Amino acid sequence: MAKIIAMVSNKGGDGKTTSCLNLAYGLAVAGKKVLLADMDPQSNSTSILMGLSKDLTAKSAEQYKEAYARYLDEGIDSFLAAFKALEEYVNKNDFEADVHDVIEGTTGIKEAIRSTKYENLDLLPASHKLATSDLKLKSKLAGALSVLRKAFKQIENEYDYIIIDNQPFENSLTLNSLTACYKEGDLVIIPTKIDRGGLEGTYSTLNSCYSILNEEELDFDVKLLVTMKNRNGIDCAWVQALKDTFQDAVFDTVIRYQAKPIADASLNQQTVLDRYPNTPVAQDYQRFVYEVLNQK
Ligand SMILES: Nc1ncnc2c1ncn2[C@@H]1O[C@H](COP(=O)(O)OP(=O)(O)O)[C@@H](O)[C@H]1O
Ligand SMILES: [Mg+2]
Repeated sequence: MAKIIAMVSNKGGDGKTTSCLNLAYGLAVAGKKVLLADMDPQSNSTSILMGLSKDLTAKSAEQYKEAYARYLDEGIDSFLAAFKALEEYVNKNDFEADVHDVIEGTTGIKEAIRSTKYENLDLLPASHKLATSDLKLKSKLAGALSVLRKAFKQIENEYDYIIIDNQPFENSLTLNSLTACYKEGDLVIIPTKIDRGGLEGTYSTLNSCYSILNEEELDFDVKLLVTMKNRNGIDCAWVQALKDTFQDAVFDTVIRYQAKPIADASLNQQTVLDRYPNTPVAQDYQRFVYEVLNQK
């Protein structure tokens, strides 16, 4: 049965997506069958794994204006025409089905899963539409937090690992991700960046984990992963302090800050482990993969 790992943090920019992609890729290269579930409407994991470019072009601006003109021709009022042209643009690269359809119950999870350019690595894609699912989940009377877990039930025998990327704040979607980690051995990883905001994010995420563990009958471990560590004395002192105090609940591996290979790999829609395997930051991610592989 798949081990379920949610990468969660109530804060943006602390390495959730980078860590999910490299963990998923590293496990897949190690021969494990992996599903990456993208639960972030910004869908950065989806863009990288599916090779979708989010860059604007001058040509797309022209196409947008052509669509606008078409709507005007149909006799639609100018503001609504602009709205509809924009809608057409943002929906252009849609998948037939994505995680938003699964959460809302209009598609089965098997129909939404795509294979990726990487062997052994499948994707449950996200799109901007997922942003509307939080409100819809909130209006559900029962079982609103276990929709994702129920969907995973249908596929958990087909994978060794299911890894969930998340958006940077607590809402019904992140609570669904936490609730999907329900059995012994499942893991919530909190990427932790050593700065004031990062530590606040880690505290707030731990708080979410505790409250859900108390309320629901869940069983998962929580582990911090230090990301983007700089070489200065403050970062070193804090990493040591976290390791001394959180002990087994911190990964031994610390991911160093190394902007260029990470940014270049991302621009090329690859993981840094794939594109620049010999860089220090990729080697950190490789060690992190081994640590996850060796967890009970
Ligand atoms: N170890 C690292 N060193 C330097 N830059 C990093 C590192 N990890 C991630 N980044 C960069 O930091 C930004 C946020 O990372 P990302 O993984 O997208 O975080 P999140 O998903 O939590 O928002 C991105 O621009 C990414 O390229
Ligand atoms: Mg992200």
